[in-house]
Amino acid sequence: MATEEKVRIGLLGAGSIALFRHGLELSQNPDAELVTVYDPIKERAEYFVKLYGGKVAASEKAVINNKNLDAIIVATPNSEHARLTIAALEAGKHVLCEKPMATNLKDASAMIAAAEKAGKKLMIGHNQCLMAPHLKARQLLKEGVIGEVLTFRSSFGHGGPETWSQDNGPHTWFFKKEKAYVGSMGDLGVHKAYLLPWLLGSDIAEVGAFAATLDKKNEKGKLITVEDNAVCILRMANGVLGQLTASWTYYGPEDNVTILYGTKGRMILGADPDYPVEVLLANGEAAKYKVGAVATNTVQVKSGIPDMFVDCILDDIDPPFDGLKGYKALATVVACMESSASGKITAVCNEPVK
Ligand SMILES: NC(=O)c1ccc[n+]([C@@H]2O[C@H](COP(=O)([O-])OP(=O)(O)OC[C@H]3O[C@@H](n4cnc5c(N)ncnc54)[C@H](O)[C@@H]3O)[C@@H](O)[C@H]2O)c1
Repeated sequence: MATEEKVRIGLLGAGSIALFRHGLELSQNPDAELVTVYDPIKERAEYFVKLYGGKVAASEKAVINNKNLDAIIVATPNSEHARLTIAALEAGKHVLCEKPMATNLKDASAMIAAAEKAGKKLMIGHNQCLMAPHLKARQLLKEGVIGEVLTFRSSFGHGGPETWSQDNGPHTWFFKKEKAYVGSMGDLGVHKAYLLPWLLGSDIAEVGAFAATLDKKNEKGKLITVEDNAVCILRMANGVLGQLTASWTYYGPEDNVTILYGTKGRMILGADPDYPVEVLLANGEAAKYKVGAVATNTVQVKSGIPDMFVDCILDDIDPPFDGLKGYKALATVVACMESSASGKITAVCNEPVK
C-alpha cells in the first residue's frame, strides 16, 4: 500500500477484546480507519461505533464482501474464527484473528493455506509477547544473562472469563465446548504455549497434562463442559523441560508468572508488580527491571497488536505473529487435551495437517 493511505478495517465481533483493545488502539492509530463493525447483538456494534467510529454493518457478509476494506479483525467466539477468517481471506482481505486461532488443527491449517492462496496477511493476536516484561526477558535471554535455559515454570490464571466477556455470567460462551473448544487452556494456556517458544527459540515437542473441571458451573448449576484447570509438563525440541498451568480458579489477583532457570541463574517474570523482571544469578549478582506491567483483565495496557497489524500491511511485511506460530500454540493445546484424555505423553503436531 502507498504509505500515505490509511488501512481500512472492518471488525467482526464487538465484544470485550474489541472494545478494550482493538477499537481503542485503532482509534488512536493515524494510519488506520475503522470502517464497519458487525455483531449479531446489534446494540454491541452500535455501542462500539459510538465509542470508536465506523458504521454498523447488517451482516457478516456485509463486512466480508465490503470492497472498501483492506483488512478484517475477527474477534468472535473461537468457534467462528476459522470460518470467518477463511471467508475474509478469500474475499481478498488481510486478517487479524484472535487466539486461539481455531478449534482444531485442520481448520487452523486451512486458515494458513487460505492466506497463502490469497496472498494476504494472517496475523494471530498473541499479545502476551508484546508486553513489556516479556519483551525485556527476550532481550536478556538473547544476551545470555542467565546462561542457557534448562527448565521453566509458567502459570496463567485468574478467576474466570465470566466477568470479562460481554456474555457476562455463567451462560458465557467461554464455558461452552461447542463455542470455545477448550476452557482455561484456550483462554490462557494458549498464550503461554505461544510465549514460551517465542522466548526460548524452540518448539514444544511433547506434553503430558491433567485437565479437569473443578469448580466452574453453568447457568443450570452444572459443572461446565470445558476444563477450568490444566496442569501440563512440556519438553521443548531443544530439550528444555518445563511446566505450564492454566486456571480459571485462581480467585483474587491474576497470576501471570514465568520463571526461567538457566545455567547461570534464574529470571522471574511478572511476580513483583514494581519490578516485573528480576534476575538472580548463582554468583550473587541480582538485577531488577522496572519495565511496564503485564496487562490483567482489570488493569489493561496497550497491546500493540492492532498497530503491528496495520504496519505489516502498510510496509508489506509478514506479521511476526503469523498463522504458523499460532497453529503451533494451538497444537500444544490440542496435545495437552489428548494427553489428559489418554493419560499418555503426547507429541505436538507442529506441522500443518491436510
Ligand atoms: N488476545 C487476548 O488477550 C484476548 C483476550 C480476551 C479474548 N480474546 C479472544 O477474543 C475473542 C473474543 O473474546 P471476547 O473476550 O471479546 O468475547 P466477548 O464474549 O466479550 O465478545 C464476543 C463477541 O462476538 C460476537 N459474535 C458472536 N458471533 C459472531 C459472529 N458470527 N460475527 C460477529 N460477531 C459475533 C458476540 O455477540 C460478542 O459480542 C475470543 O476468541 C477470545 O479468546 C483474546
